[in-house]
Amino acid sequence: MARTITFCWGSALLFIYFVGFFLNSGEAAIKTYQFDVKVTNVSRLCHSKPIVTVNGMFPGPTVYAREGDTLVVNVTNHAKYNMSIHWHGLKQYRNGWADGPVYITQCPIMTGHSYTYNITITAQRGTLWWHAHIFWLRATVYGAIVIMPKEGAGFPFPQPYREANIVLGEWWNNDVEDVVKQGNKLGLPPNMSDAHTINGKPGPLFPCSEKHTYALEVEQGKTYLLRIINAALNDELFFAIAGHNLTVVEIDAVYTKPFTTQAILIAPGQTTNVLVQATQAPGRYFMAARPFMDAPVSVDNKTATAILQYKGIPNSVQPVLPQLPALNNTAFALNYDDKLRSLNTAQFPANVPLKVDRHLFYTIGLGINPCPTCLNGTQLTASLNNITFVMPKIGLLQAHFFNTKGVFTTDFPDRPPTSFNFTGAPLTANLGTKQGTRLSKIAFNSTVELVLQDTNLLTVESHPFHLHGYNFFIVGSGIGNFDPKKDPATFNLVDPPERNTVGVPTGGWTAIRFRADNPGVWFMHCHLELHTSWGLKTAFVVENGKDTDHSVMPPPKDLPPC
Ligand SMILES: *[C@@H]1O[C@H](CO)[C@@H](O)[C@H](O)[C@H]1NC(C)=O
Ligand SMILES: *[C@@H]1O[C@H](CO)[C@@H](O)[C@H](O)[C@H]1NC(C)=O
Ligand SMILES: *[C@@H]1O[C@H](CO)[C@@H](O)[C@H](O)[C@H]1NC(C)=O
Ligand SMILES: *[C@@H]1O[C@H](CO)[C@@H](O)[C@H](O)[C@H]1NC(C)=O
Ligand SMILES: *[C@@H]1O[C@H](CO)[C@@H](O)[C@H](O)[C@H]1NC(C)=O
Ligand SMILES: *[C@@H]1O[C@H](CO)[C@@H](O)[C@H](O)[C@H]1NC(C)=O
Ligand SMILES: *[C@@H]1O[C@H](CO)[C@@H](O)[C@H](O)[C@H]1NC(C)=O
Ligand SMILES: *[C@@H]1O[C@H](CO)[C@@H](O)[C@H](O)[C@H]1NC(C)=O
Ligand SMILES: *[C@@H]1O[C@H](CO)[C@@H](O)[C@H](O)[C@H]1NC(C)=O
Ligand SMILES: *[C@@H]1O[C@H](CO)[C@@H](O)[C@H](O)[C@H]1NC(C)=O
Ligand SMILES: *[C@@H]1O[C@H](CO)[C@@H](O)[C@H](O)[C@H]1NC(C)=O
Ligand SMILES: *[C@@H]1O[C@H](CO)[C@@H](O)[C@H](O)[C@H]1NC(C)=O
Repeated sequence: MARTITFCWGSALLFIYFVGFFLNSGEAAIKTYQFDVKVTNVSRLCHSKPIVTVNGMFPGPTVYAREGDTLVVNVTNHAKYNMSIHWHGLKQYRNGWADGPVYITQCPIMTGHSYTYNITITAQRGTLWWHAHIFWLRATVYGAIVIMPKEGAGFPFPQPYREANIVLGEWWNNDVEDVVKQGNKLGLPPNMSDAHTINGKPGPLFPCSEKHTYALEVEQGKTYLLRIINAALNDELFFAIAGHNLTVVEIDAVYTKPFTTQAILIAPGQTTNVLVQATQAPGRYFMAARPFMDAPVSVDNKTATAILQYKGIPNSVQPVLPQLPALNNTAFALNYDDKLRSLNTAQFPANVPLKVDRHLFYTIGLGINPCPTCLNGTQLTASLNNITFVMPKIGLLQAHFFNTKGVFTTDFPDRPPTSFNFTGAPLTANLGTKQGTRLSKIAFNSTVELVLQDTNLLTVESHPFHLHGYNFFIVGSGIGNFDPKKDPATFNLVDPPERNTVGVPTGGWTAIRFRADNPGVWFMHCHLELHTSWGLKTAFVVENGKDTDHSVMPPPKDLPPC
C-alpha cells in the first residue's frame, strides 16, 4: 500500500537539510504538491518587480521524492500567462502527458485552470529540476527535484553530513516576455540578462544586493553534498568555490566515477552533484558562477556569487573569490567533459547499446530568414538539418494518440539535405532555412545513434541538446567534422557519461546512443532558450510496442484542451 504525503510550504525556505530528514522511511509513497502559479513582487538589483512564481517562491519549491514514488502535482494557474511545467530529466515512461512542453505533449494550462501532473519515478535517483516550458517563462519559474535512493540503498559514495541545492539562474530587470517580444519584433537576439543568480540571488558583486546573497553555513571537517542545477536560459556556466575542490559524483541523476576538480562546467538543463570538504581555515569563501563562451557571440559575462561560511565566522570577514576558468577557456571545457564517466557497477550498469539499428546525423545551424516587418528585413533563425521547427497549434502527443491528420509529418530527414564543410570557414551567404513541423519516427525498442554536428552557418557555437523521455549515452565527441569512417573507432562503449542534456562542442560534434523503449512524442531541442525560440528543435515519435503495457497510456481526463 502506498502512503500519501502532502507538502505544505511556509515562508521559511529550507535550503540546507539533513540528508533524508524530510522523508519518512518505508515503502513507495504518493507525494502530492500544490503549485500555485502567480505573480509575486521580488526585489533584486535595486528594483522591485512582479515576476511569475510558483507558490510565491523564487526559486520555486523543491520537490522531494524517493526512487519509486509517485508525484502528484496539481498546477493551478493564477497568472495572466499560459503555463506548463516540464519535469526535466524524469523519464515519464509511457506517460508523455506528464512531460510538459507546451504544444508537444500538452496544450497550455490557461489562466484560472489546473492540471495535475502524475509522475511515477522509475529507476532514477539524484538531482533533476522542473521549469516552465512555454516561451521564456522558465526565467523565473523553476525549482529543484531531489530524488533520494530507495530506503536502505544509500549513495555509492561516502555519506555527506548535510546537503544543499545550488540553483544557478539568469535575471532580467525588465519583464522577460517583453524582452523576448522586442527581440522577435526586431529579428535580433533579445537583450542580454542583467545578472546571474545563485538560489535566486546575484550576490555582493552587484549593487543593492547585500540582502540578496545566499550563504551556506558549514562546519569544519564535515563533507557536504551540493546539488547544482543550471536553470539559466542562455548561458553555460563555470562554477567554483574559493579554496575548495569539488568532487563530481553524479550528473543528470546518474552516478559518475568520482573525480576532483577546481571548477565544474554546467550547461543549461544539466545538473551536477559534488562533494565539498570543509577542511580549510575557518572563514568565508565565495562560490561563483560565470559563463563559458568560446564563440564570437556576445554573452552576459557577469559573475554571480554566494558564500560558503564556516560556523562562527562573522559576516564582517571579507570573502575571497575563486579562480574561475576564463570565459573562453575551451581547453578547460573539453578536458572537464572528457573526465565524465558513468559509474558502471553491477548495481548501476551502463547499458550502452552496442548494436545500432538507426543512424541519424543532424546538423545544427543558425540562419537568417526574410522578415519584412523586422529591423533589417530579416530575422535570425536556427535549424536542424536545415529545418526550422514550426510549433503546432495542438499538442503533438494528442495528435499522435488520436491519429489527427495535418498536425505534423514524420519525414524529418535522417541526414542534412546537402553535405558541406560543416565547420570550415564561416558561411554567410544563403543562410535561409526550410520551415516545418517535421518529426522522425522511431521503431519501438530500436537502438538509435544520433550524431549532432555543429556548423559554421553564421557562426559556430556550443549547443546544449536536451532529449525528453530518455537518458542517452555520450559515446563520442570531437572538434571539426564527424568522420563516419574513423571516429566510431574512438567511441567509449564501456562507461560513457549518461545524461539527458549534452553540450555539443563549439565547431564540433557529439554522438549519443539510446534505446527507444519509451513510446510517445519526445521533444529534442537546444536548451539555450534563445535557440529553442528560433526553431532549433524537433521531436521523435517513438511507436508503441506490441501490447498495451508497452504503449502510450490514455490521456488524463484533465489534460488541458486547446
Ligand atoms: C509590486 O510592484 C509594483 C511595481 O513594480 C507595484 O506597482 C505594486 O504595488 C507592487 N505590489 C505589491 C503587492 O507590493
Ligand atoms: C487543483 O487545485 C485547484 C485550486 O486549488 C482546485 O480547485 C482543484 O480541485 C485541484 N485539483 C485536484 C485534482 O485536486
Ligand atoms: C496517477 O497514476 C497512477 C498510475 O497510473 C494511478 O494509479 C493514480 O490513480 C493516478 N493518480 C491521480 C491523482 O491521478
Ligand atoms: C533593451 O535594451 C535597450 C538598450 O539598453 C533598452 O533601450 C530597451 O528598453 C531594452 N528592452 C527591453 C524590452 O527591456
Ligand atoms: C585541489 O586539487 C588540486 C589539484 O589536484 C590540488 O593541487 C590542491 O591541493 C587541491 N586543493 C585542496 C584545497 O584540496
Ligand atoms: C563583459 O562584457 C562587456 C559588454 O558586453 C564588455 O564590455 C566587457 O569587457 C566584458 N568583460 C569581460 C571580462 O570579458
Ligand atoms: C580569450 O580571451 C582573452 C581576453 O579577452 C584573449 O586575450 C584570448 O586571446 C582569448 N583566448 C582565445 C583562445 O581565444
Ligand atoms: C541589423 O541591423 C542592426 C542595426 O542597424 C545592425 O547592427 C546589424 O548588424 C544588422 N544585422 C544583420 C544580420 O544584418
Ligand atoms: C574544411 O575547412 C577547414 C577550415 O577552413 C579546412 O582546414 C579543411 O581542410 C576543410 N575541409 C575540407 C574537407 O575541405
Ligand atoms: C536550406 O534551405 C534553404 C531553403 O530551401 C536553401 O536555400 C539553403 O541552401 C539550404 N541550406 C543548407 C545549408 O542546406
Ligand atoms: C528490448 O530489446 C532488448 C534487447 O533486445 C530486450 O532485452 C528487451 O526485452 C526488449 N524490450 C521489449 C519491451 O521488447
Ligand atoms: C493560451 O493557450 C490557448 C490554448 O492553446 C490559446 O488559444 C491562446 O491563444 C493562448 N494565449 C496566449 C496569450 O498565447
